[in-house]
Amino acid sequence: MRVAAMCGSMRTGSFNQALLRAAIERAPVHGLEIVQADISAFPVFSQDFEKTGFPEPVLEAKALIQSADCLLLVTPEYNYGVPGVLKNAVDWVSRPFGDPTLRGRPMALMGASTGYMGTIRAQMAWRQLWHFFRTPVFSGAELTVAFAAKAFDESGVLTDETYAGLLEAYLGALGQWLARGGHGPLG
Ligand code: FNR
Repeated sequence: MRVAAMCGSMRTGSFNQALLRAAIERAPVHGLEIVQADISAFPVFSQDFEKTGFPEPVLEAKALIQSADCLLLVTPEYNYGVPGVLKNAVDWVSRPFGDPTLRGRPMALMGASTGYMGTIRAQMAWRQLWHFFRTPVFSGAELTVAFAAKAFDESGVLTDETYAGLLEAYLGALGQWLARGGHGPLG
């Protein structure tokens, strides 16, 4: 199963980017291929682009997501909510109205934060707004990496054994869910 991923942090040394790398490395044993969509060159969204044409990085990301069985959002938590950079990317790939990139495509979430809640508030906020896309959000496992500065080493490798185990369990459950079409008891 193919998973397209968007990461909501542009920060050098980002814990969320490190978490995504860890997921990409571990994905194949769970029957998953995770491919990152590069959102770093997305401009700030304006509906004017719908008249003048979408930027190439947006079109590339949309094509990648459309080729995937699932979209994975790897989300930081900013001010108890979703980070603007990732919301901007979601808004881009959702357009024009009625576009099939997100609508009907299963979505999954994971995230890392330096706080003790590990992005759970941001993840719940994503679930609420995803209602718009009439799309199942994976619920068979949760991955909320708290105190992220302690979970990764200086080179960004996930060294915390508890979170490494939770990541494996998450990917295993996600692989089973997607193999069943993104619905069923784990969904
Ligand atoms: C944060 N951070 C944060 N953490 C958290 O657990 N809950 C929160 O609401 C916030 N709010 C917040 C707002 C803003 C503007 C910033 C810059 C940061 C801290 C955040 O978890 C930390 O900076 C992470 O390192 C961000 O993820 P990356 O960049 O490491 O992937």
